Amino acid sequence: MENIRVELGDRSYDILIGNSILEIIGEKLKTFNFSPKLALISNELVFSLYGDIVSESIKKAGFDLLTVIIPDGEEYKNIETLQYIYNELLKYKLDRKSALVALGGGVVGDITGFAASTYMRGISYIQIPTTLLAQVDSSVGGKTGIDHKLGKNMIGAFWQPKLVLIDTKTLNTLEKRQFLAGLAEVIKYGVIWDSELFQFIEVNKEKILGLDYNPLNYIIKRSCQIKAEIVSKDERETGLRAILNYGHTIGHAIETVTKYTRYLHGEAISIGMCLEAELAQLLNITEPSEVKKIKELIQFCGLPYCLPEDIDRTEIISSMYLDKKAIAGKLKFVLPEKIGKVRIERNIPGEILKKLL
Ligand code: NAD
Ligand code: GLY
Repeated sequence: MENIRVELGDRSYDILIGNSILEIIGEKLKTFNFSPKLALISNELVFSLYGDIVSESIKKAGFDLLTVIIPDGEEYKNIETLQYIYNELLKYKLDRKSALVALGGGVVGDITGFAASTYMRGISYIQIPTTLLAQVDSSVGGKTGIDHKLGKNMIGAFWQPKLVLIDTKTLNTLEKRQFLAGLAEVIKYGVIWDSELFQFIEVNKEKILGLDYNPLNYIIKRSCQIKAEIVSKDERETGLRAILNYGHTIGHAIETVTKYTRYLHGEAISIGMCLEAELAQLLNITEPSEVKKIKELIQFCGLPYCLPEDIDRTEIISSMYLDKKAIAGKLKFVLPEKIGKVRIERNIPGEILKKLL
């Protein structure tokens, strides 16, 4: 089992990564000073797959466990589901030393983290991420939240978990499309931070796509190390952490314009990463050969790499200006100088964007 530490002073925590490690959760929870009442938050699908093993381990460790099942899907990451969670926690009389355990993908993790950040002014929570995206990205770093009718992730808080437990065996049951969407975020870490990780994915791509656990555990571990390092340096995204948004300025606009129905997040980000690499090339920031490598890897992994003709370019540009990353009417782009190194650019001329799209 691998152990990666997210260094944040008295809010530091471990990320444990291994194969078939769900059953250690109860023992791990005993090492904290939680009160005996805990709550497990999951959805029906994930609970039906992994709920028993996790619940039994927690109960065996001596805790009283409330299970809260929320509906599956991004459309339920909202205030109504949050209200339902609060009701259940209050009825079960969870106290200020209780903890929540999130078992599921990014939707379950984000809403559980936000419930934890606000219940009785803030209680502890543990992440057990079960999608690749949640294992390499959303469970680490303490961004929690829900969607609002007027925008995704618009209501939230920075609230770090006490522990992240990643069982890579859970990926066995994940749909291929969801797996690939998570892989897009791993490719992102290669481009923004670590050319060796990028090369590793290039060399091992067939094995990774075939769920070979040797390269898979490595890329998950390396992604978590990179995210841990970035978050430790800039928890609240005042600077460096923004590089995690490579591909996201255009990617988020694609998700918004296509109303979150056509693409999974990782798919939209894949198109965004390709276009933002092309933007870097148009601005003479990067070499065409680097752009080619990024696009080829994304394409090989079965991810989308260009913007379909039927998507309205004017809507994409307008949507980028409405995103929460745009400040004072200026767009922020994370652009690769070369694989493994990016820079942040504002002041991109509108003409260049039009040319790009
Ligand atoms: P998700 O949570 O919707 O999970 C995708 C699907 O996979 C769901 O149907 C889920 O039930 C199912 N599933 C989960 N684990 C499974 C397993 N092991 N086997 C079979 N099916 C399984 O989607 P996601 O991609 O994990 O997360 C997306 C969410 O994460 C979005 O809301 C996004 O805003 C958020 N996010 C947050 C951060 C952050 O830093 N907090 C970062 C990136 C994304
Ligand atoms: N997923 C981007 C971040 O955590 O900052």
